[in-house]
Amino acid sequence: MPAEPKPGIMDAFQAAKGFMPVDEGLALYAAAVQAGALGLPLLEVGTYCGRSTVLLADAARACGVTAVTVDHHRGSEEQQPGWEYHDPEVVDPELGVMDTLPTFRRTLRRAGLEGHVVAVVGRSPQVASVWGGKVGLVFIDGGHTDEHATADYEGWAPHLAEGGLLLIHDVFPDPVDEFTGQAPYRVHLRALASGAFTEVSAHGSLRVLRRTGAGI
Ligand SMILES: C[S@@+](CC[C@H](N)C(=O)[O-])C[C@H]1O[C@@H](n2cnc3c(N)ncnc32)[C@H](O)[C@@H]1O
Repeated sequence: MPAEPKPGIMDAFQAAKGFMPVDEGLALYAAAVQAGALGLPLLEVGTYCGRSTVLLADAARACGVTAVTVDHHRGSEEQQPGWEYHDPEVVDPELGVMDTLPTFRRTLRRAGLEGHVVAVVGRSPQVASVWGGKVGLVFIDGGHTDEHATADYEGWAPHLAEGGLLLIHDVFPDPVDEFTGQAPYRVHLRALASGAFTEVSAHGSLRVLRRTGAGI
């Protein structure tokens, strides 16, 4: 399996709106290629405009699996108007609410990766509740409140196959600012305490864990 994304993919990643730095993106790609060897879908919570999805999709392409990305496309709390991470370019001019779906679709099209992604528009716990099969990777990068991060974990971790990888983004052991919060860190601690996961690596705020036991 390739150790690096195909030529042009990192350009597409960097051109996309989003929050993930390059080093974490490369770590995400490496983990996705590893997990893809299981032959199961790679699942992302938190599509936004497709920055991380580009790398998951390229890994999925290399492994002959599909990337599935879930988002309601209305933005997280900290992305709403008046908040630190708001981008007025992703507001639907007619409705006056956030809609990142058109930008995401442009990102994917420009990267040539439409054929490797299933985009699900909906609330993560609701999608998880109707999801039927196992996945080889769960990447949690959705809402940053305890309510949302916990629901993402409780909804998707049960679908992760034995040997599959659980990735959690924005894990900050020390408080960073009022917007970022520490809910993903608490989910990370919970996953380790469950005895079902073993930490594989850490890159910036990205944590990679492997399912080595049952449960959550
Ligand atoms: C931090 S952004 C994702 C960033 C993206 N992974 C990237 O690399 O650019 C978080 C996304 O999660 C979505 N989100 C937040 N809570 C959600 C929920 N309960 N269900 C589905 N999507 C949610 C928001 O709409 C937002 O687009």
